[in-house]
Amino acid sequence: MSLNIRIEKTKNPKTKPDSNNLKFGELFTDHMFIMDYTEGMGWHDPRIVPYGPLELEPSTMVFHYGQAIFEGLKAYKTKDKKILLFRPEKNMERINISNDRLCIPPIDVDFAVEAAKTLVNLEKDWIPEAEGTSLYVRPFIISTDPYLGVRPSITYKFMIILSPVGAYYKEGINPVKIYVETNYVRAVKGGIGYSKTPGNYASSLKAQVEAIEKGYTQVLWLDGVEKKYIEEVGTMNVFFNINGEIITPSLESGSILAGITRASTIELLKSWGIKVTERKISIDEIYQAHLDGTLIEAFGTGTAAVISPVGELSWNEKTIIINNGEIGELSSKIYSTITGIQYGNICDNFGWIVEVS
Ligand code: COI
Repeated sequence: MSLNIRIEKTKNPKTKPDSNNLKFGELFTDHMFIMDYTEGMGWHDPRIVPYGPLELEPSTMVFHYGQAIFEGLKAYKTKDKKILLFRPEKNMERINISNDRLCIPPIDVDFAVEAAKTLVNLEKDWIPEAEGTSLYVRPFIISTDPYLGVRPSITYKFMIILSPVGAYYKEGINPVKIYVETNYVRAVKGGIGYSKTPGNYASSLKAQVEAIEKGYTQVLWLDGVEKKYIEEVGTMNVFFNINGEIITPSLESGSILAGITRASTIELLKSWGIKVTERKISIDEIYQAHLDGTLIEAFGTGTAAVISPVGELSWNEKTIIINNGEIGELSSKIYSTITGIQYGNICDNFGWIVEVS
């Protein structure tokens, strides 16, 4: 796809924030990328314009039936001011997996990566430099037909917005407390659990609110049928270290998001000669490992959260304290290696980094 991206610069640039006080997802840069889809024309009119409100009719389909997808990746500034993206093609490929499930026409992966690079380059002064901060890149697609019948839309908007961010969880790299959800379920095989679509996150809110009320940061989802097998944590995939073997739920269930940080963590662990197994793992097995003293560590992986150690699980009134509630050795090593590669401080032997400028 060879389309020129038209650029219209803002006349009112905003004041950039202090990068030492950034939270997650509250601030947005000066520009955004937009491209339209119309049946018969395909994707067209790619442009970068000043960040601002969209004008959409109240009947716009996305408001009613949620036919939409999104992604999340990050841009990092190195000490010598290079700008790096972490495996952006994986996010754009995953857009097409989500698109297929949501009946949204596919995008051109290489063009979408180019669009993200062009926008990030234009906004490079927004990339924060304090430790642990980055520029979060949020590509998304919404259905835009003004229509109330239930069918796939025939018009869409693909957009990319940027947000300078700090840590996703207030705990940062400190262990989080997780509530094992036994009432609500997130997804079932055949559903939309493997796609990155807003409905999955909307359906998780009730459990998240109740978990926070009970003093937990997030929920750990169990499978939607037997409520027995572990799926994922709120915004992350999850890993357990049982007796030195690293176990993570396999993607075969069809209801788990194929995380890019998850895949990178598996590759990294294998390169260190550590045994990693992707399989079904039940919450009873985790509890038994806790009783046996073989549950050494647990951690979540995700773009927003990076690596988040799990210090405590609460399951059916039982409390499972992991590694004395402290950061485990392996979580810490994975965190420093992945972030080291992302920020250009460690040599990338995997070919994960894409330089923007
Ligand atoms: C990400 O890790 O990028 C995510 O998409 C999580 C997000 C829902 C905050």
